[in-house]
Amino acid sequence: MKIIFSIEELRDQLRGQLRTAFVPTMGNLHEGHLSLIRLAKKHGDPVVASIFVNRLQFGPNEDFDKYPRTLQADIDKLEKEGVYVLFAPTEKDLYPEPQEYRVNPPDDLGNTLEGEFRPGFFTGVTTVVLKLFSCVQPKVAVFGKKDYQQLMIIRNMSKQFALPTEIIAAETWRAEDGLALSSRNSFLSASERAEAPALYQVLNEAAQEVRNGNTNLIEIEKRAMEKLAQRHWNPDYISIRRRADLQSPNATDLQQHTELVVLAAAKIGGTRLIDNLEI
Ligand code: PAF
Repeated sequence: MKIIFSIEELRDQLRGQLRTAFVPTMGNLHEGHLSLIRLAKKHGDPVVASIFVNRLQFGPNEDFDKYPRTLQADIDKLEKEGVYVLFAPTEKDLYPEPQEYRVNPPDDLGNTLEGEFRPGFFTGVTTVVLKLFSCVQPKVAVFGKKDYQQLMIIRNMSKQFALPTEIIAAETWRAEDGLALSSRNSFLSASERAEAPALYQVLNEAAQEVRNGNTNLIEIEKRAMEKLAQRHWNPDYISIRRRADLQSPNATDLQQHTELVVLAAAKIGGTRLIDNLEI
């Protein structure tokens, strides 16, 4: 595997490649990331991964400084998966000057759910992803459904800018007890880790209520939030949305069985976890 830091070197290495499959990451790779790599392999060749902890998508009081950085272990894992190139730019490589041009997702998609609780987050994500796409020029790029809203925003960005990159969705990778894999799980203490699968359980219970025909979504969401709060979580939101555009379903949607997803973000101790479940 070639490990490349500069944009110029990356361009030289990938010149003429027409079927590149790309997996952008922030490193601290786990089985969930490796499943994205395996999916990428099915959709293109060569496979390029990137590792870059993107300051633009962290708020001033968020965990940019303590975000886990494990480059050597990540390299070993990517090598085993047969990745062709790892692009691991430093901040100076990717942002040699202040990144003043940014991509702003539309309000209804970018400022709801995660966007409401992490202002500017999706602008940071779309800006870096567009820049990474411009460096790698992939034919396909793989994103996990674990970050459901991110996946949808990037897919819409790619469509609206007519980027030549198809966005592929990968299923969420879960531990045996149901907890969605995430780099932030490493912040959990042993007792928090034992409690963490409750988030997925609560999502399952909410989804089941909808499947059973309960159309009072506000009540379902409220009950789910209360369950978490009783277990000493601090929930930001649990929200049932239309899969297609992440807006709240109306009565017609419920009558017509429009496809839905329930999304959640909640803090356990000092760690904020997100998860979702298609209903
Ligand atoms: O999902 C992530 O790891 C990041 O948001 C991404 C897409 C690599 C952009 O920094």
